[in-house]
Amino acid sequence: MRFKGKSALVTGSGRGIGRAIAVKLASEGADVVINFFRNRKPAEETAALCEAFGVATQLVKADVGDLEALEGMFKEIEARFGGLDILVNNAASGYIRPIEQQKPKGWDWTMNINARAHLFAAQHALPLMQKRGGGVIIGLSSLGSTFTLPEYVVIGVSKAAVETLTRYLAVEFARYNIRANAVSGGVVETEALQHFENGPAMIESARQRTPAGKVVTPEDMANVVAFLCSDEADMIRGQTIVVDGGYSLALGAVVHTE
Ligand SMILES: NC(=O)c1ccc[n+]([C@@H]2O[C@H](COP(=O)([O-])OP(=O)(O)OC[C@H]3O[C@@H](n4cnc5c(N)ncnc54)[C@H](OP(=O)(O)O)[C@@H]3O)[C@@H](O)[C@H]2O)c1
Repeated sequence: MRFKGKSALVTGSGRGIGRAIAVKLASEGADVVINFFRNRKPAEETAALCEAFGVATQLVKADVGDLEALEGMFKEIEARFGGLDILVNNAASGYIRPIEQQKPKGWDWTMNINARAHLFAAQHALPLMQKRGGGVIIGLSSLGSTFTLPEYVVIGVSKAAVETLTRYLAVEFARYNIRANAVSGGVVETEALQHFENGPAMIESARQRTPAGKVVTPEDMANVVAFLCSDEADMIRGQTIVVDGGYSLALGAVVHTE
């Protein structure tokens, strides 16, 4: 029960990796704020999965790309829990298309949800974490921050910003006893892949090319997020931990599987 008595906000936790993170933190005792944007029903299902562990939950509808809505969410959390111990900036969106077809609107949309929200959610979390004597901030990233993935340019840039922001947060918020790290993933099988034309092919190709011989699951990601949220990770600061079964190490290599 590493998180008993703690409260955690996981943005975009109705589905996918966010849901797995919320459930993992709840399974270890955390009260969980489940944030959603468009889909209330899956968020209610996440809440039910968390409550099965006997913890309290709070559902908050908010577009994290909207600064007013973002601020409003932290006011709701303060009213309900009084403070906050863990912030996981997981929500993400983005325009998947080649550079020639990118538009300023898609850039703004993607950057506001994926990158700007990481900074301003951390800013709003600060006074709530100070009430608890400190806290932990985790950002979710992807291999597209470092490697080029097809049609992923704007999301890739937004994830590079998440990783850089994480390093700044780790340094500037250390004085408040707040730790910051990021978790990056290879191909994780979630609904997000349905937005890619070749989603099923991506999963099969990732499986074949991953030294671990299987694709990453949302639970694999959640386990590492939970570790970074725990006191055991106290001396890990500003890092991006890659959870990809070795996929990025073997790009271009022949993977030998039985
Ligand atoms: N899947 C992968 O292969 C992969 C790999 C590496 C990293 N990641 C990262 O892991 C995180 C989760 O990915 P996922 O695959 O689980 O995504 P997903 O299945 O597409 O789910 C996205 C979640 O974010 C929420 N969301 C989207 N826009 C939002 C907004 N403006 N405000 C609040 N919530 C919003 C959605 O809520 P609603 O349903 O309510 O709209 C949903 O719960 C992302 O940061 C992603 O970049 C994913």
